[in-house]
Amino acid sequence: MNKLNIDYLISIVDKGGGVKTGIDIFNERGVLLLEKDVIVSDVRILLNIKNNGVHDIPINPDNAGGLWDQNGNQIILKPVTDDSDSEKSYSETDIEKKINEITQLRHAASIKYRKAKGNIKKIIGDIRSSGGQFDFDLVENTVTDLLQFLAKNDNAFSYLTKEIFSFDDYLYNHSINVCTIGVAVLNKFNENFGAAINKFFTEFLFKTFENDIDDAQVQPFFYYLPDELEDMACGFFLHDVGKVLIPDEILNKDSALTSDEYAIVKTHSFEKGIEILERNKLHNAFIKNIAKYHHCALFKDEQNCYPYDKPPFEIPLYVKICKLVDIYDAMTSKRIYKEAINPISVVTEIFRKYAGKDPMLRFILHSFVKVVGIHPPGSIVFLQNGQMAYVIDSHGPLVIPFTDTNGSTIAARQEPIDIGSIYEKRNSFQIDRRKPLISPIDVYDSLPSFIKENVKSPDCS
Ligand SMILES: [Fe+2]
Ligand SMILES: [Fe+2]
Repeated sequence: MNKLNIDYLISIVDKGGGVKTGIDIFNERGVLLLEKDVIVSDVRILLNIKNNGVHDIPINPDNAGGLWDQNGNQIILKPVTDDSDSEKSYSETDIEKKINEITQLRHAASIKYRKAKGNIKKIIGDIRSSGGQFDFDLVENTVTDLLQFLAKNDNAFSYLTKEIFSFDDYLYNHSINVCTIGVAVLNKFNENFGAAINKFFTEFLFKTFENDIDDAQVQPFFYYLPDELEDMACGFFLHDVGKVLIPDEILNKDSALTSDEYAIVKTHSFEKGIEILERNKLHNAFIKNIAKYHHCALFKDEQNCYPYDKPPFEIPLYVKICKLVDIYDAMTSKRIYKEAINPISVVTEIFRKYAGKDPMLRFILHSFVKVVGIHPPGSIVFLQNGQMAYVIDSHGPLVIPFTDTNGSTIAARQEPIDIGSIYEKRNSFQIDRRKPLISPIDVYDSLPSFIKENVKSPDCS
């Protein structure tokens, strides 16, 4: 069976041709994107498939799949050899190399995380001891360091063990997580939103001025510029800084808060957070807005939000991103009194609550889903057939199953499976998204020796 690049198919349909796959196309969550018998003549269908992260489309001629040009003539597909549909094979050396890269990345990620945690600990300690003063340069350096690392390594912190034992510990990790996940969502949003605006203007300008403008004259557009993104990243890092001035006995209380106590906790944003920023003469509007409004209502009549001095449409988009990431991190963090909830379930819940309320929230949430859907190399996933698998490449993802369907360890290293390349309903090799993405440390006893050897590097817990 041929697999063709989606951009090639888009170019055929764009010129007035047609595409029929002859096989159902699903996204990696198992959602049907295209039925096998549909002849695609609208390019938007293919763009939607591409936006779902599917880049290679199988065409099954045995089921009358094929391509047609604008005159209705069938485009002859290149004959394929018998093994063209089999999984790409990986040599022992390829796999060794990938596992070693993961070990190094994991080691580097845990060092970065540990360093950032030490810095936020110092920042919070300084605020406590001085009644509000802290070193903003240290915030900027920490955030820049984290962002440089993340720019090269997608989602690299998400599988580190982050069990949290005290509120302080939670605050350190939460600051780093909201900053790193928030920036990833913000970048994805910025890229997608810029592209959407570019497309709109290109088409609009083209229609308005016809041939007076060509693609070469349209400059790339980014909604937020790099300096602004850096300020927002600092804002994400400091969003809960006001909590440092909330009494410990309230923050560490292990039973439900009284209404008076809850009223005090709320002041961490619009009162204490702003107080600390002002005391440090930080007047940056991005940071202030994030500190003040990250618990605001995202739609009319949303409950348990504060403060109320701005309607949702006046809340900047980066603040809305911060609020969504804040909820996400709180729900996916493991605490002494609660288990971590699976990230996909959390995103689904957030999507259900907010996406229908406003098209811009929906746009943000699409970026959100893309970012947290990444399976970082070195993490462990559960397959729907009950096997556990080690991710060696986030593209696909490419995984090595290491237990049988009953959870018993298989000592011999198995062949990697490229989950993304399996279009047939081979559900047994799909990821079970009800189960959390976890760190190898969490299932250390079940690991075969070839993975165990590679996870004995320092972790951040
Ligand atoms: Fe907060
Ligand atoms: Fe928070």
